[in-house]
Amino acid sequence: MVKRNLHLAKLQSGYLFPEITKRKKAFLEKNPSAELISLGIGDTTQPIPSLIANSMAITAEALATPDGYSGYGPEQGHFNLRQAISEQVYQGKRPADDIFVSDGSKCDIGRLQILFGGQASIAVQDPSYPAYVDTGVIMGQTSTYHPLSKQYSGITYMPCTPENSFFPSLEKLPRTDLIFFCSPNNPTGAAATYEQLSQLVDFAKQNGSVLIFDAAYACFIRNPNTPRSIYEIEGAEEVAIELGSFSKMTGFTGVRLAWSVVPKELRFEDGHLVQNDWNRINSTFFNGASNIAQSGGLAALRPEGLKAIKELTTFYMENATMLKEMFEALGYIVYGGVDTPYIWVHFPNQSSWEAFEMLLEKSHIISTPGSGFGPAGEGFLRFSAFANRANIIEAISRLRRALHKLDRV
Ligand code: MLT
Repeated sequence: MVKRNLHLAKLQSGYLFPEITKRKKAFLEKNPSAELISLGIGDTTQPIPSLIANSMAITAEALATPDGYSGYGPEQGHFNLRQAISEQVYQGKRPADDIFVSDGSKCDIGRLQILFGGQASIAVQDPSYPAYVDTGVIMGQTSTYHPLSKQYSGITYMPCTPENSFFPSLEKLPRTDLIFFCSPNNPTGAAATYEQLSQLVDFAKQNGSVLIFDAAYACFIRNPNTPRSIYEIEGAEEVAIELGSFSKMTGFTGVRLAWSVVPKELRFEDGHLVQNDWNRINSTFFNGASNIAQSGGLAALRPEGLKAIKELTTFYMENATMLKEMFEALGYIVYGGVDTPYIWVHFPNQSSWEAFEMLLEKSHIISTPGSGFGPAGEGFLRFSAFANRANIIEAISRLRRALHKLDRV
């Protein structure tokens, strides 16, 4: 028999979202007529803007013709798409050849872990998107086993809570090779300011760390003073990799398209370009994003596509405002929902999973338990605004009833 990969055995539970699906299924088995509304996983619900879908349809049909057929593309992505990302997302601040097109940010996170290897130490915001820690554990980044707590340690958690305005106290942090930082943040919704990101870039420089900046939600930023990219901070190209995604921006969670920026200025200790190794990893583990998806991405970055993106993201942000205002009117402490489509709500006197189960029972609403994003998420629930309007209105009325009843008990 083959021995199980020990690193996988260290993972403390299943991945967060499949765990929620498991609980949802169990609930439906007991309550088959329940009409659940999901405000759990941040999965887009609105149709892809038709001009983007049409562009993919034209590419797909062309594949059935001798002239329009194409096979493997460059692993780094079609140059015209890299160029469009460079111009439209980075206003030329990052050149096209620093940009690598991919099949999703989660896949890029996993491949970045392979790039830096199992010996790299990492720091993550607590709470944070679970893929950073889980891919690190799978690579073997957790080393020390604590028999009393039956847990492994080795990954540095940077508490980001209301007490520190969701920004880590950098002076208390140990040096790590990599720092994962997501802004606007999933799950708390906090968007870091220029001053905060400048401090982070300085901290990475002083420590010789690489900052992996996850900007998957940048398209939801509405505050003109909130930075949309780490490269708005001077000198960030010497220390930072950035991840961007079409998933939430154009409804591509099923289509799959994203990108990473690995600047030429970023070097390993021995002077070797990180970009060269990233190119090697991508050419080895990946054959390039789907040519159909890439044509959709290109259409999205043309002027009419950018207008459609604005409308789509504004729709979700309106949902976010509605949810946020409802919780606030009920007296809950609420974060997020301003530059991100996530609402982070404090449920006092309950664990996150208890609050999750309570809302599932009482209002047939699926949320995401804050503790699934890290220990500092305990006591919070995350609500996603990625829903259609009818579901948001119905969810608001159910939550008002459920939470009012609770208040009166
Ligand atoms: C989330 O709900 O946190 C995200 O949608 C999950 C993902 O992007 O993989």
